[in-house]
Amino acid sequence: TTRTPLMAGNWKMNFDHLQAIAFVQKLAWTLKDAKHDYADVEVAVFPPFTDLRSVQTLVEADKLPIAYGGQDLSEHDAGAYTGEISGQFLAALGSRYVIVGHSERRQYHGEDDALLGRKVAAAVRNGVVPVLCVGETAEDLEAHGAAAVPVQQLRDALAAAGEVPELVVAYEPVWAIGSGQAATPEQAQTVCRALRDELRTVVGDEFADATRILYGGSVKAENIAGFMREPDVDGALVGGASLKIDDFASIVRFRS
Ligand code: G3H
Repeated sequence: TTRTPLMAGNWKMNFDHLQAIAFVQKLAWTLKDAKHDYADVEVAVFPPFTDLRSVQTLVEADKLPIAYGGQDLSEHDAGAYTGEISGQFLAALGSRYVIVGHSERRQYHGEDDALLGRKVAAAVRNGVVPVLCVGETAEDLEAHGAAAVPVQQLRDALAAAGEVPELVVAYEPVWAIGSGQAATPEQAQTVCRALRDELRTVVGDEFADATRILYGGSVKAENIAGFMREPDVDGALVGGASLKIDDFASIVRFRS
């Protein structure tokens, strides 16, 4: 990739605020002590909402080179929406990114592309970069091949979003998430390339060339290098392996 790789850890519903502080501190030490330079890789963590203030305090106090953000956000900025968290609040805590449309939100909370487009717009409105997740289920793969559904999801979300100055896309085949059965680097490349072509058509060359497209789904220390050799894979969205310091640090240092 010619883009700065982004290695993102989605903690899902793991680690309370005390565990979060311990983890981020240790991650920073591990990366700092490493002989290998990772200055040209961006690292981000996505803790539960209740951890974000603690993570912000630590990152700002120690000037850690670790970005962070929420795992979801409301389409609204404020108001009578019990249980929701707004992009405004995430921005106020220094969040650089927010995950939008993770397959677990689509699956368990019925989030569709029109809603996700409005969430992308809410992130943009508040100066937070959306990490828009797309990906096909095993049934989609069987019926339509790998790229059709993720490309359609991207198209529909962008159509509902309006203008988006900066975006990260995460291609996560649902069948590869938490299954131990990652896509092959070639499969990931094919879909990431199709997603970039869609950005080229809908937004333009400059935007398409600047946008990081991540692969996610059973990424581990052992398979990250293969994905990163592909020209259209610009990083990873890591679940399980992002909860273990050594595994995640190895993923960040994929070049060594
Ligand atoms: O957001 C992360 C993905 O859902 C991947 O999870 O690395 O545990 O397969 P996983």
